[in-house]
Amino acid sequence: MSFAESVDYLVIGAGVAGLRAAISLADHGQVLVITKESLGESNTHYAQGGIAVALEGREDVALHLEDTIAAGDGLVHRAAAEVLVSEGPERVAELIEWGAAFDREDDRPSGRLLRTREAAHSHPRILHANGDATGAEISRSLSVTAQNHPRIKFAEWTMATALIVEEDAEGHRVVAADLISADLSASPNHPRRVTARAILLASGGAGQVYSDTTNPAVATGDGIALAAQVGAELADMEFYQFHPTALSLPGVPRFLLSEALRGEGAYLRNHLGERFMERYHPQLELAPRDVVARAIAREGMSADPALSFPVYLDMRHVSKERKGIDLTQRFPGISRFLAAHGLSLQHDLIPVRPAAHYLMGGIRTDLNGRTTVKGLYAAGEAACTGVHGANRLASNSLLEGLVFGARAAEAMLSDRLPEAHAIATSAEAPKQMDANEEAQVEEIITRLQRSMWATAGLLRQESTLREGISTHAEIESSLAYYTGQGKSSRRLFEACALASVAGSILRAALARTESRGAHFRNDHPVRDDEKFRKHSVERNGQVRFEQW
Ligand code: SIN
Repeated sequence: MSFAESVDYLVIGAGVAGLRAAISLADHGQVLVITKESLGESNTHYAQGGIAVALEGREDVALHLEDTIAAGDGLVHRAAAEVLVSEGPERVAELIEWGAAFDREDDRPSGRLLRTREAAHSHPRILHANGDATGAEISRSLSVTAQNHPRIKFAEWTMATALIVEEDAEGHRVVAADLISADLSASPNHPRRVTARAILLASGGAGQVYSDTTNPAVATGDGIALAAQVGAELADMEFYQFHPTALSLPGVPRFLLSEALRGEGAYLRNHLGERFMERYHPQLELAPRDVVARAIAREGMSADPALSFPVYLDMRHVSKERKGIDLTQRFPGISRFLAAHGLSLQHDLIPVRPAAHYLMGGIRTDLNGRTTVKGLYAAGEAACTGVHGANRLASNSLLEGLVFGARAAEAMLSDRLPEAHAIATSAEAPKQMDANEEAQVEEIITRLQRSMWATAGLLRQESTLREGISTHAEIESSLAYYTGQGKSSRRLFEACALASVAGSILRAALARTESRGAHFRNDHPVRDDEKFRKHSVERNGQVRFEQW
């Protein structure tokens, strides 16, 4: 029998929340940060627009709170939002000290920080870096800080496949995780069991649950599925945010076209050339994200592609009207990507469509990252504090990762948790999937993604959700065929995680018979505060509603 390795703190995920937490934890113990691909391959890295933060004092903080609450459509957990907006400035200042270079009016480090506007913000408060590569800069500066810390070790191309729970007098407690190599070319490896005093799930979102997503391939909801497996509560899983403007070109990934484009003046036009947002919201293109996404769907999208019309983002007027703005310089990454596909912001209408972008729900935590299972913490997109309610305010997610990542670390340090102790590793050797089986798993994933887009996407109703649930049941049983034989591979685990997240989204979306924020039911189009000004909470597949 062999025994598990031991660290003080295990952090699963190396996006903004995981890295920020690791930096605090490392002052007090050994930290292992695992990440499924190379360091930097996370949703954080791809965030373009920026980080929202109130830097102008108390009134500004109060306005940021108001905007966050308004965007969340009656469901923002006010205490969580207060923490976010009031602790945000300090966390961002600290990040700047650690080397994050946000764009400034001139090149001097003391130059005034530039701020842009995004949808549903009452004024420009979004900091950005290298024009449209804010997430990459935040990820870079946190990675360098963490890598320079002697007590932080990284394990790249590594994923967790199970959390290990022990019973004690106070109930059950997570004490370890099983890790495998996530290198797709590696043959199945015996899981490496790592015990820890506390484990943080900062594994990000699950955009891959939908066929159209702005998220990278790693965003498969692994942490959410792991938490659900050990009985942790999930919350608000019906609230999936669809970003209104992903690039819509056949055969091209749904590349994000930042909301900052509209913040800098872009219009949305339908196939007749009309600026259609006038019909949907007084804030026009800067209406809350859910409103804009549904408006685009109504103007252009149909289940039958032959009946769909293109919808466009139009920036052609911006350079002329705002002399001095150089769109290629302001949006270098977006401009490069568009140029590679023969398009330019200055000269072309850019075809767009909504795509799955951000999960407001996740693993239920308190304001300090504690999940409902001892020893297990969560922060960032994997977690749900209720801070975003039913619809996240643009650019609040990087701030969330910083603020709640730091808070989760504080709780992990201050909670009285027993030291990691020796436990045996699993004796069972995993069985290899052959190429044919791997191909079948890919097909299962594609089927799940398409079904989720069609049945639990932007516009939902009971009949589609029930259809989704029935497809989901078939998918679960196909996956059980492999897991039941003790098979193991990265893609099989990811397929199981996606199926687990999909099940939670479908159940919560069916239970919420109203429309609110990102959750729109054609059969219940009106918000129903009397019944549903509550968060959905799911445990072991059972959904209930609770007021927080
Ligand atoms: C964007 O740049 O539009 C994305 C920012 C966000 O998701 O908040």
